[in-house]
Amino acid sequence: MIYIAPSLLAANFTCLADEVKKVEEAGANYLHLDVMDGVFVPNISFGAGIVEALRPVSRLYFDVHLMIVEPIRYVDNFISAGADSITIHYESCKDCRTVLEYLKSHSVKAGLAISPDTPYDVVLPLLDVVDMVLVMTVEPGFGGQSLIFGALDKVKHIRKYMDENGLENIDIQVDGGINDKNVGLASAAGANVIVAGSAIFKSPKPRLAIAALREAINENPYVG
Ligand code: DX5
Ligand code: ZN
Repeated sequence: MIYIAPSLLAANFTCLADEVKKVEEAGANYLHLDVMDGVFVPNISFGAGIVEALRPVSRLYFDVHLMIVEPIRYVDNFISAGADSITIHYESCKDCRTVLEYLKSHSVKAGLAISPDTPYDVVLPLLDVVDMVLVMTVEPGFGGQSLIFGALDKVKHIRKYMDENGLENIDIQVDGGINDKNVGLASAAGANVIVAGSAIFKSPKPRLAIAALREAINENPYVG
């Protein structure tokens, strides 16, 4: 199953509720919410208050991407705010397994992200406590960057490992610089959750932007 996840970071912040409704009506599956603390990444975005405020205005699956140091300190806030899934960065915690187990035991999906310089194999010993692996395709911190094509090799390796080990049900998300020209490569590599900020929110016609992503994915399916 393919899921399209517009990243709120690229939305017009003067009217967030309308922006969320816009992408929901345009056919999005998830709302990707990028939380940045100004320490793990050199940018500050928003916190659990925004997630809580938007929760009643949308039925979208809220996919929270935490780019914060030691996320265990804040996961309860995001769970209470209405997150459906919470993704933490491998590089941001001393003990990822404990955080991932905590998430799973609190009825939210658990995601594990790796930044571009992090090798793919660090996620493999943690797959038993993970619902989704996020392979960052840009350096985390900012929207509107260009995709790092080399990151897609990590998607291939992880998907191959999952296939060989009966873990086909784990999602692989790609995030950063994705558009209708390159999403086919991500899909063919084995990614099935597609984050796109600029490509959707900055488009005058988000419905067409989402349709173009889906078409490119359908033309370049993962074949194993
Ligand atoms: C970067 C964020 C991304 C970003 C994607 O740290 O995790 O979600 O907003 O935006 P685009 O699609 O514009 O690269
Ligand atoms: Zn993100």
